[in-house]
Amino acid sequence: MINRTNMILRQAESWRPLAFRADSGTLSRVHFALRRFLDLQTASIWQDLRRELPRVEGAVVDVGCGAQPWRPLFGPAAVYKGIDTADARENFDYEVPDTLYYEGSVWPLADASADFILCTETLEHVPETKPFLAQAARCLTPGGRLLLTVPFAARWHYIPHDYWRFTPSSLHALLTEAGFGDVAVYARGNEVTVACYKAMALLLPLLVPRGKNPLLGMAARLLGLLLSPLLILLAAIGNLSLRGKGGDDCLGYTALARKL
Ligand SMILES: C[S@@+](CC[C@H](N)C(=O)[O-])C[C@H]1O[C@@H](n2cnc3c(N)ncnc32)[C@H](O)[C@@H]1O
Repeated sequence: MINRTNMILRQAESWRPLAFRADSGTLSRVHFALRRFLDLQTASIWQDLRRELPRVEGAVVDVGCGAQPWRPLFGPAAVYKGIDTADARENFDYEVPDTLYYEGSVWPLADASADFILCTETLEHVPETKPFLAQAARCLTPGGRLLLTVPFAARWHYIPHDYWRFTPSSLHALLTEAGFGDVAVYARGNEVTVACYKAMALLLPLLVPRGKNPLLGMAARLLGLLLSPLLILLAAIGNLSLRGKGGDDCLGYTALARKL
């Protein structure tokens, strides 16, 4: 008999990184830069979005927007709207002003009303991906663009609301079936990035322990502090590795597609 944990019985995570905060100002920019240094997933997404979002024009919809962390990257020619599921607060700890929360599977948008749809780190949380992408196709104008990011080498998160990992093949198939063309999928990071990310995932929880025993918590923090030079070295190597072309093992994917 297999004597490990039956994962179906797990209903929560033992540790999760801090949620994004929906604020702005110098302090929050410093906080976000520090976060990018220590959170390679965030760094890899930021690297792609800062190239694409500033030149977007017209009606923008950020679906599954959470705390709207990427909103500041849009330029003045974009008219931003964030939408999210009504379950966001209960299941994901997100409740952000200026977000349109909706129930069910139909997005609260008119047909062909968006020029650009952003969907970051959300598709893996949607049980029915095909109807979800069909909504994106419905809401985009012909020729409108979708930018999607999904994790690949990431732990099971927001348990149990994390259903899928995608590959370039499945993203291409899903997007084509939903009515998109010009599909391009870019790997975020490579084997080195993944190795650094996984090693950092062992070290970071030491600095933010969540157990109930205060003595163990203090010991973990002390160990974390002692190992912090290693953490910084891994973060530096990981960030440098993001300058490469991306590999078959990677942190996640950024997909771009155009509504036909
Ligand atoms: C990991 S968070 C990502 C939030 C944000 N996009 C970001 O990059 O920080 C996942 C988001 O997906 C949203 N979500 C999950 N299922 C959804 C659905 N069916 N429709 C829209 N949003 C959904 C959650 O409410 C949550 O805000």
